[in-house]
Amino acid sequence: MTTEQQPKPTLTLDQKVSLLFGAAFWATRAVESAGIPHVVLSDGPHGVRYQANGFDHLAIEDSLPSTCFPPAVAIGSSWNPALAARIGAAIAREAQALGVHVVLGPGVNIKRSALCGRNFEYYSEDPLLSGVLGAAHARAVQEGGVGACVKHFAANNQETERMRISAEVDERTLREIYLPAFERVVKEARPATVMSAYNQVNGVPASANRWLLTEVLRDEWGFEGAVVSDWGAVNNAVASIGAGLDLSMPGPSEANVQRVLAAVRAGELSEEQIDRAVARVLGLAALVPAAKAPAFDLDAHHALARDAAAECAVLLKNSGAVLPLARGQRIAVIGEFARTPRYQGGGSSHLNPTRVDVALDALQHQAAQHDCRIDFAPGFTLDGSGDPAVLRDAAVAAAKGAELALVFLGLGEQDESEGFDRTHIDLPAAQVEALLAVAAAAPRTVVVLANGGVLSLEGWHDQVDAIVEGFLLGQGGGSAIAELLFGLRTPSGRLAETIPLRLEDSPSFLNFPGEKGKVRYGEGVMVGYRWYETLGRAVRYPFGHGLSYTSFAQEALQVEATGRDTARLTLEVSNTGRFDGQHVVQVYVATSAGPVRRPLRELRAFDKIALRPGESRVLTFELDRRAFAYYDVDAHDWIVARGDYTIQIGENASSIVLESRIALEGDLIVIPLSMDSSVGDWMNHPVIGPALLQELGADLPPGALDKFHAQPGLLKMIESMPVLKALSFLISPAVEPTLQRLIKISLDTPC
Ligand code: GLC
Repeated sequence: MTTEQQPKPTLTLDQKVSLLFGAAFWATRAVESAGIPHVVLSDGPHGVRYQANGFDHLAIEDSLPSTCFPPAVAIGSSWNPALAARIGAAIAREAQALGVHVVLGPGVNIKRSALCGRNFEYYSEDPLLSGVLGAAHARAVQEGGVGACVKHFAANNQETERMRISAEVDERTLREIYLPAFERVVKEARPATVMSAYNQVNGVPASANRWLLTEVLRDEWGFEGAVVSDWGAVNNAVASIGAGLDLSMPGPSEANVQRVLAAVRAGELSEEQIDRAVARVLGLAALVPAAKAPAFDLDAHHALARDAAAECAVLLKNSGAVLPLARGQRIAVIGEFARTPRYQGGGSSHLNPTRVDVALDALQHQAAQHDCRIDFAPGFTLDGSGDPAVLRDAAVAAAKGAELALVFLGLGEQDESEGFDRTHIDLPAAQVEALLAVAAAAPRTVVVLANGGVLSLEGWHDQVDAIVEGFLLGQGGGSAIAELLFGLRTPSGRLAETIPLRLEDSPSFLNFPGEKGKVRYGEGVMVGYRWYETLGRAVRYPFGHGLSYTSFAQEALQVEATGRDTARLTLEVSNTGRFDGQHVVQVYVATSAGPVRRPLRELRAFDKIALRPGESRVLTFELDRRAFAYYDVDAHDWIVARGDYTIQIGENASSIVLESRIALEGDLIVIPLSMDSSVGDWMNHPVIGPALLQELGADLPPGALDKFHAQPGLLKMIESMPVLKALSFLISPAVEPTLQRLIKISLDTPC
């Protein structure tokens, strides 16, 4: 039964309109007389931030203890939808125990720039990876009896001016890059709510954007839940309700209630529009259980947080196989982050964890099991206090006395957060100075990073032997890192975002964060690896990169077309090394088919599989039409162009190990021609092209076309000219009847 079909209690107009605005910071309005309960909504994407008193949306006030799972930046690196689902289910369990009915997550915005302060809360630069993980998370939350809230819809890809900036994005880029993750979550997880973003999209506020909230979200994607605003995002309540927003948060907002009542009375809004929004808000009441659920299992959820963290860390470099750590070593652990973990981001998602594992303690524990000795030196302070030289010298002394230095570096909450963007992607200078001094003193050096947004590794990458990119690993990250470093677990993370050599190389560099109220998405669909691979621009580590302690072989790729616009592929994956491990099979599609420029390749499927040493498995992937399609803004639809498509298996977006080409018939589409179409459009038309000169030759006096045969380059010279102008001038105005006849054929002939 959809929300529109649910029987509605008899309510006055005043009561109805009041339901469209929050009654409090985290709750909708109850109408006792009609048996309508409060619905409690709370953050966030990687755990429940429930505030029993003291309400705010920037985590200034405290919240009740809950499990801090790895934020999306880490889950994105796991490439494991089953893991995302396990975490979603656990979050639903905790929400029920805390009395929360809608959890405000997942966040699936695309990482357009590494500078975005909120990238820690998002999965990836790629829409497929973001959508699959977001849908798995949201579906599990919903199956747990709690409402999910996919956010921030849409094109909220920066924090700078986030409440005012207009994201200027062409429709094909929106459709192919910034909307697909939302589309997948809406279609596959059917979330109770979608959160409209703060920003404008092409000059229209997302929270009052009819094209987004009604035409795309509901008419095209079939969303039946409630659209809730970001907190404080509604500027014009009447316009928002008219565009398809249902619930404006936070509340209370009596002034807005009166404005909407006046608008209904003045005929600006119909009571039918009010009723439709009310039905959707009332639909959320179904999420309110008869009784509060029992407390959640803190230990089990902490164990899940730790297991998850171990799947997320990315082993970027491991020269000389310095990892896993050998037994019996003397190890200098350097860096305040080893003692003071950074494990989550700042702002509305910030949680009060049930406990936090400290890497230094976990390393000490593992060292005792491996006959290793640990000496610790902070090397630097997180707040810049202390004497850097003294701190550095102490770290160097520890390194000199060790066989290996383990250096924990990263970004503090003052460096990146919701609410502001970074201006560079470098580590703090004091940390780099300490690292270089330690690396010069230690026989071998391993770096462990804790950061929400991608960091540049330049200036020190070549001076160290191994790098583990942990991103932000949640409350269990300290133990997970220790177990990975000592080889109790094998790293299996893969980059969900490119690590560039220079920020200036990144696709959005010239258009971030915009100016004078607008940010132009000038790179179009060329976001992330789509940019670097299409331009052939070198990066430090590509999207999809990640090492293991074991090795894998991918062989025997077989691909077959299974229809005009679908295909099936199989391949065999083997663990050829000495350790248990997990491999991420990455399936890319490369093509130049169609009338638009395509990225060199795009991720179209993936799977993460666990294999023991010597074990092999054959995997099968079915590629549907969207794996081959581009969005055609003239046809207002997805089109699979006739042509060749290369299916590629990548170790990452840059290193292709297997590939096989297939030809697809593609969609039969009418390609309408006109007198203004160019000679090239006519020549490239699958039906009219071959006929053009023949038909003209038949209709014109002998010799009229000789010049074309005499000068084969002539066609090239005129191919971008309007056909009637070109041929009338070069041949004769007598060509017009023939062209008219051919135009009619083009309008009636799908090809
Ligand atoms: C914040 C965030 C949003 C969050 C909401 C409630 O400003 O943009 O993600 O869910 O407000 O805290």
